[in-house]
Amino acid sequence: MDTLLVIDDTPDNLIFLLNFLSEHGFKVLMAHNGEDGIETAEFARPDLILLDVRMPGMDGFEVCKILKSKPKMKDTPIIFMTVITYTLDKVKGFELGAADYITKPIQNEEVLARVTAHLNVHKLQRQLTQQNQQLQQEIHRRQQLNETLQQELELRQQAELEREKALEALQAEKTSLAKRVEERTAELRVANSELTRALRLKDEFLANISHELRTPLTAILGLSETLQESVYGPLNDKQRNSLRTLENSGHHLLALINDLLDFSKIEAGKLTLEIGTVSVNEVCQASLQTTIDAARKKQIRVSTTLDYAVETIQADKPRLKEILVNLLSNAIKFTPKGGSIKLEVSGDTENGQVNFSVQDTGIGIAQEDIKYLFDPFVQLDGDLNRAQEGTGLGLSLVHRLTEMHGGRVSVQSEIGKGSRFTVSLPRRL
Ligand SMILES: Nc1ncnc2c1ncn2[C@@H]1O[C@H](COP(=O)(O)OP(=O)(O)OP(=O)(O)O)[C@@H](O)[C@H]1O
Ligand SMILES: [Mg+2]
Repeated sequence: MDTLLVIDDTPDNLIFLLNFLSEHGFKVLMAHNGEDGIETAEFARPDLILLDVRMPGMDGFEVCKILKSKPKMKDTPIIFMTVITYTLDKVKGFELGAADYITKPIQNEEVLARVTAHLNVHKLQRQLTQQNQQLQQEIHRRQQLNETLQQELELRQQAELEREKALEALQAEKTSLAKRVEERTAELRVANSELTRALRLKDEFLANISHELRTPLTAILGLSETLQESVYGPLNDKQRNSLRTLENSGHHLLALINDLLDFSKIEAGKLTLEIGTVSVNEVCQASLQTTIDAARKKQIRVSTTLDYAVETIQADKPRLKEILVNLLSNAIKFTPKGGSIKLEVSGDTENGQVNFSVQDTGIGIAQEDIKYLFDPFVQLDGDLNRAQEGTGLGLSLVHRLTEMHGGRVSVQSEIGKGSRFTVSLPRRL
């Protein structure tokens, strides 16, 4: 229900409006003068005010001015009531912010029409203001959103820019890396070919020098043998002993030179095998013969087990002997006095192989050292090891000669218990 405030000093008017407007569904408040009117208006906050212009004391214009100056009241529509002849009143009323005027004497239908119209206008205005406010808020919200989006966009653009830069840097790095790899590869290729050349020269040099050393050494050995046979006159014991030492050292040197020569020939790819039918028994006996003296000196028992199903093998006889002699002399060297060694031959018909294995009760080899054994010049540390002479070429020759025969070497060993070296060769090449 809308509330109306009527301010008028004429009681008849008040009563009339009260009755008439109440009948039409309004709540009607009344004030007899300006001061009361302002007070009631502030207190009751009516939806519309009907205000008489001519009143004793504070007149309608004054009341209107005061009401319009109060923020809470300034939008409340005010309709002036004035006598028809006072045109100036109407103008002044509008200037002061009145919504409308009605003329006295009051016409029922006119009051109702104007009041209703202004209430509607006022409501619509309020609605509009509210909608406007909402719209303003929405605009503000969207502006903020827009700003946030703008910032986000800028950040992304920046990030994208940085990513592109990083990508460029990466690309540059990649290119320079590829270039460096290329340069390095080229350098390595050159170094490699120089190294290959140097290695070949070294092997050739070793082969030449070993060969050249052998000739005078053979002469020395021949002569010391001849001298020992007293061909040039009788010898005293001292002379004989010295000549024996000379001969022993010479033989030692010859063995070393032969190993070096073989090794360098193999490395230079110049050693070729002369394969023929070899009697297994013969080659084993010959190898044992070569090493038996050394074994005897250390009171090492030597036993042999042959497989009589395996009579012959296709091999290079002197090289096969070299393999076996190397393994046997190692077994003797690295077995303390009073130990035993065993040469065993067994045929493996399934794989068409012959296994030559040399077993000892010697010092053994640590598992982690086994992988180095077949590298040239490797000699393991240890008391008995260091006490032995040698160059560390024996096993590398065994390894290479075995491979040239199409076979392979394997080792089983336990520190302090002994070792077993097995060379497996194909029976037929
Ligand atoms: N039967 C074995 N028992 C224990 N250690 C061994 C045995 N055979 C070889 N080794 C170890 O392997 C090393 C290499 O052996 P390799 O035959 O190549 O050299 P070498 O016997 O010391 O010298 P070379 O054979 O040239 O006279 C030896 O120095 C030794 O330490
Ligand atoms: Mg050896």
